[in-house]
Amino acid sequence: MADKETSADSPEETPNSTPGGNASSEVDLALNTISQRVQESLSLGKRHTFWETQPVGQFKDLGNTSLPEGPIEPPTPLSEVRQEPYNLPNQFEWVTCDMDSDDVCSEVYTLLSNNYVEDDENLFRFNYSKEFLRWALRPPGYFSSWHIGVRVKSSKKLVAFITGIPARIRVHDKIVTMAEVNFLCVHKKLRSKRLAPVMIKEVTRRVHLENIWQAAYTAGVVLPTPITSCQYWHRSLNPKKLIEVGFSQLGPRMTMSRTIKLYKLPDSTVTPGFRNMKFHDVPAVTRLIRSYLSQFKTAPEFDETDVEHWLLPKENVVDSYLVECPETHEITDFCSFYTLPSSILGNQTYPTLKAAYSYYNVSTKTPLLQLMNDALIVAKSKDYDVFNALDVMHNESFLRELKFGPGDGKLHYYLYNYRINQPLKPSELGLVLL
Ligand SMILES: CC(C)(COP(=O)(O)OP(=O)(O)OC[C@H]1O[C@@H](n2cnc3c(N)ncnc32)[C@H](O)[C@@H]1OP(=O)(O)O)[C@@H](O)C(=O)NCCC(=O)NCCS
Repeated sequence: MADKETSADSPEETPNSTPGGNASSEVDLALNTISQRVQESLSLGKRHTFWETQPVGQFKDLGNTSLPEGPIEPPTPLSEVRQEPYNLPNQFEWVTCDMDSDDVCSEVYTLLSNNYVEDDENLFRFNYSKEFLRWALRPPGYFSSWHIGVRVKSSKKLVAFITGIPARIRVHDKIVTMAEVNFLCVHKKLRSKRLAPVMIKEVTRRVHLENIWQAAYTAGVVLPTPITSCQYWHRSLNPKKLIEVGFSQLGPRMTMSRTIKLYKLPDSTVTPGFRNMKFHDVPAVTRLIRSYLSQFKTAPEFDETDVEHWLLPKENVVDSYLVECPETHEITDFCSFYTLPSSILGNQTYPTLKAAYSYYNVSTKTPLLQLMNDALIVAKSKDYDVFNALDVMHNESFLRELKFGPGDGKLHYYLYNYRINQPLKPSELGLVLL
């Protein structure tokens, strides 16, 4: 989500606040919660002409514990899966986007950088880099056929996109092979024409052709029905720029220089043995992360090839650090973040916001708070403007103390063709999608 900091309850307003926060921010937070609830109840009553026809948890079934957890529909024989693509309006055609091709990758980059997710006030738009897109779309075992574009037949212009990648995700005690569906985008000029449902049906068909029947996805909008709803939190690293571009606001009792002082970080990390992850660390990191993720109700099942792909550092894409005990050389802790800049729309001085997004973090010996403080220190030293984190896993334990402020949007997680008995708390989720 292109999200930004709420003016309510950001640390700028509460520089001297006690752990409970001050009275005015409590009121603001309560108002936020009420407005969120009203929004959610409105969306409960909303009709979803497409999603009501799909095998997803429906609002009417919320709280009905007699329905079994697991696949909503059984797999159909592969011979019964529709062989031809769904019909598009006549002027458009389906294409498979070959992300190995520099030209195609550039076309996808251009479509997304001009038309993908914006914040509610249209100040920022995600600007996934080409290298990031290549990384995100070519994990072990990926299918090119799941990188789906729509072109205008006459001009060949790419006007819509949707992708899937394969993943093994554990839901409670069941490991399910799924597609992670992402990067759904329709050109701004073609919105509200019901193209998105056709895109979703086509990616579903191509997933079925690989004998895969479940999917996981996230969205900023409420659809039937989230398995959990998370919130982004933002830690200012370059508060002056963030305030100047409208990402955050100067608190009423704050000056710029006090704000800069509030967010200042040391120049170097404090944990002995904190270093970059290297290729030879893959087996140890895999053991560490597998054991750590096993405590969450839903989490990916990573093997060594996944860890090599998703967590080995890749410049300007993903950064990973670990703690190697100076005496025993044991790998005890791990933290990582990915790089996702946003374009700052219509700003002449600053074209982009450089954002780090917390990815997977594991603490066994180093307190998580200290580990994440070191992650903030390296992100600052690499010139990131802001460090973002969802309230998933154990993140809540460090957010307030490390001066993160809550964002103004929610990120909802969904499963396709898989019912869970009870929605999860964000802290019960061990999954981060890009
Ligand atoms: C998301 C997007 C592709 C939807 O296209 P659209 O032209 O606005 O909507 P369409 O008329 O084609 O389709 C509407 C249907 O798609 C559903 N839909 C909208 N956004 C969706 C999303 N992110 N995920 C799944 N379904 C979505 C709607 O709920 C609606 O179905 P319903 O009637 O059952 O509720 C388009 O708005 C877009 O490109 N937005 C910017 C990028 C973005 O937000 N991508 C999603 C990232 S999670």
